[in-house]
Amino acid sequence: MTSYAQTSSDELHALRAALEDEYNGFKAKGLSLNMARGKPSAAQLDLSLPLLDILSSTSDLRAADGTDIRNYGVGTGLPEARTLMAVLLDDDPANVIVCGNSSLNIMYDEIARCMNFGTLGCAPWATLDTVKWLCPVPGYDRHFAITEQFGIEMINIAMDDNGPCMDQVEELVANDPAIKGIWCVPTYSNPGGVEYSDEVVRRLARMTCAAPDFRIFWDNAYCVHHLDPDPAHHAHVLDIGAACREAGHPDRYLKFASTSKITFPGAGVAALAASPANIAEIARMMNVQTIGHDKFNQLRHVRFLKDADGIAAHMAKHAAIIRPKFDLVEQKLSEGLADVDCHWSTPRGGYFVCFYGPAGTAKRIVELAKEAGVTMTGAGAPFPYHKDPEDSVIRIAPTLPPIEELDLALDVFVCCVKLASVEALLND
Ligand SMILES: Cc1ncc(COP(=O)(O)O)c(C=O)c1O
Repeated sequence: MTSYAQTSSDELHALRAALEDEYNGFKAKGLSLNMARGKPSAAQLDLSLPLLDILSSTSDLRAADGTDIRNYGVGTGLPEARTLMAVLLDDDPANVIVCGNSSLNIMYDEIARCMNFGTLGCAPWATLDTVKWLCPVPGYDRHFAITEQFGIEMINIAMDDNGPCMDQVEELVANDPAIKGIWCVPTYSNPGGVEYSDEVVRRLARMTCAAPDFRIFWDNAYCVHHLDPDPAHHAHVLDIGAACREAGHPDRYLKFASTSKITFPGAGVAALAASPANIAEIARMMNVQTIGHDKFNQLRHVRFLKDADGIAAHMAKHAAIIRPKFDLVEQKLSEGLADVDCHWSTPRGGYFVCFYGPAGTAKRIVELAKEAGVTMTGAGAPFPYHKDPEDSVIRIAPTLPPIEELDLALDVFVCCVKLASVEALLND
C-alpha cells in the first residue's frame, strides 16, 4: 500500500469514511480501557506479597547493628538498607541515605532545600532573580511539575538515542549561571526508553558550568527494569558519580532510586546517593525534618530482596509478565501503521513506549481515543508546561492493563492514529 502522504484526495476521503466506520464500531462497544499511567499490573504486585509476612511480632525486629527498628532514629537508614539501595544507586553505602516511600519526594525536597537554604555555601536559589532548569524532552511529566511549581524556568533539550543533545546542554550551562540543574532519567528514560551513552555521561560530568551549584538530578528509576532475559541485552549506563569525580566535579550529581516498580509503588523504599559533602549537608538538614524514616519497611525490603542477585531474580519475574505486553505494542503498531508517517521507540526496559505521530495530530489522537473509551497520557504531558512544539508525542504505558484489554486498546489507538492522520492530510 502507498503511504497516506502519497494518497490522492479522493482516496483519502474514502479512507476517512472507512476509518470513521471502524472508529464508530469501537465507540459503540462502550469501552473503558487505560494506557495512561506507568503502573505495575496486579500480577506484578502479587510478586511482592510475601514481603508483607516477612516481619511479625515474633520475628527478629533488630537490624544487623542491633538497632530496634520499632523505635525512633537512624536518620540515614538502616545499614543493611543502605547496602541494598546502594545496589540500585551504583554507589558506596556510605554515600546513601535511605528515605521514605517516594524518590520523587526526595527530589522535591532537594529542590526545596536549594531554594530555601542554598547548597554547599552558594546563595539560596529563591534569592536569585531567575532560576532555570534543563529538561530533556520528551521527559517525565512529574519532574517538570516539580520545577514548574517552584517557579523555575524550564528549557527544552532535544533527546536522541544517546541521551540529551550535549552540544545544546554545554553551550547553555557554560554561559548562563541561572541554569542550576538538569533532569536525567539515564536508563530506559520515561518515556523515550533511551539509554544514556558513555559519551553523554562523561560530557555531563566534564562540562563547564557557569553556576558553581549546578546539579545533575540523576533519576535512575528504571535501573534494573530490563525486559530481555539475556543480560547481554541490558542497559549498562555509566555511573554519573564516578564520571563526576574523574572530571573533578565531585559534588555535581544527586542520584535517586526507589523500589516503587520493584515491590509496591507508594509503599516501597526510596533513597539518594551523592558526594560525601552533599550527603553530610542533606543528612544534617533532614535530621530537622524527621527523626527517621520507616525502618519496618526498610528491613522488610532487605529481607525480601536481599542483594543484587535477589533484585535481579525478582526483576526477571516482572519482565516475564510485561515483556509480552511490549511485544504486543510493537506488533500492533508495526502491523497497523505501516502507511502512516510515524515512528515509536522499542525500549529494552522501563515502562513506556514513546509514539511519534505526524506533526499536529497528538492531541487529536488522544481526544479520539478518549471518546472511544481509551485513556492515554495527555498529549503534551512529556513536555514542560504541557507544550509539545510539534504536537506529535504520545506516551504509551502498556504494563497496567491485562493483555486482552491492551490488545483491544491498541486496536482503538491504531484506528485513532490513522483517522487523525487522514484528517490532518485532508485539512492541509
Ligand atoms: C522517571 C521516574 N522517576 C520517578 C518516578 C516515581 O518514583 P517514586 O515512586 O519513587 O516517587 C517515576 C514513576 O513513574 C518515574 O517514571
